Amino acid sequence: MINMKDYQIVQKKILNENVIKMDIYAPMVAKRCLAGQFVILRVDKFGERIPLTIADYDRDNGIVSIIFQIVGSTTTKLSFLQVGDCLEDFVGPLGKATEVEEYERVCVVGGGVGCAISLPVAKAFYETDAEVISIIGFRNKDIVILEDEFKQYSDYNYVMTDDGSYGEKGFVTNKLEEVLSSKQVDKVYAIGPIMMMKNVVKVAMKYNVPSVVSLNPIMIDGTGMCGGCRVTVDGKVKFACVDGPEFDGALVDFDELLMRNRMYFEKERTHHEKTCNLLRGVVDEK
Ligand code: FAD
Ligand code: FES
Ligand code: MG
Repeated sequence: MINMKDYQIVQKKILNENVIKMDIYAPMVAKRCLAGQFVILRVDKFGERIPLTIADYDRDNGIVSIIFQIVGSTTTKLSFLQVGDCLEDFVGPLGKATEVEEYERVCVVGGGVGCAISLPVAKAFYETDAEVISIIGFRNKDIVILEDEFKQYSDYNYVMTDDGSYGEKGFVTNKLEEVLSSKQVDKVYAIGPIMMMKNVVKVAMKYNVPSVVSLNPIMIDGTGMCGGCRVTVDGKVKFACVDGPEFDGALVDFDELLMRNRMYFEKERTHHEKTCNLLRGVVDEK
């Protein structure tokens, strides 16, 4: 890449009305990152730090791809950046990489924007001898993302929509149940909304299949110092940023995670409204 600046956006692609893919020039991150790891970025020097998974990377050109859903203040600000703009910082790779062991068959389940996080997992296993069955779920046809990419890195790919407007009607758990009742699967990987992961784990347990989930607690420093990302796994406190983000699904306290992630909901909503007003009026926030 000629004359690229660190953390410059080299490509921007709208995947659906709320989900965007950005390719970022970050050669130091691209050099070392692996499936399952994430970065913590700041949009500008006044901004908060947010974690986003490394959706893909191109080591030769120093590019790291992120895929994010616009949910609040920072992701809205990020969505306003264009090709050529630079992020303030982009720290990574953080967290433990997916343990890509030798399996005969794995099932990779993704829900909504969680598909951005499960795609590198599917890809990593597809590059081994394992058979990869991917199941991706969305509310409806309009928000389906990454279908072609999953097809590329899976032996079988099933798309589920809640309302049946695309693929098959039903939840990812319905398809998982079908798969696990007819095939021997060594491990299930699930990434998506907390309730979805909790239910996927239940189905996997019913068929005695071990499961791995990628947790998304609120993170601040991403280095195990602040304790913001603490989760309970097997009754013990773990820091998702350094001990995870992937954990044995059967051991995770999902209800606590759900409660902790909602803790700042009111503040986040107010700040989001303020950010939207500022961006609409293009007012300086300083
Ligand atoms: P806000 O309105 O501030 O928050 C909306 C919700 O996002 C909150 O209720 C909370 O549940 C969550 N959130 C807020 N701040 C943080 C924070 N600092 N850390 C974690 N969660 C937060 N999202 C994607 O769209 N794509 C990804 O690839 C992705 N990867 C992630 C990987 C990890 C390891 C983690 C922990 C989270 C990941 N997320 C990902 C979630 C993403 O970090 C949040 O959606 C984002 O921080 C929301 O910021 P906001 O200011 O726009 O929204
Ligand atoms: Fe601070 Fe994990 S984000 S300890
Ligand atoms: Mg925020």
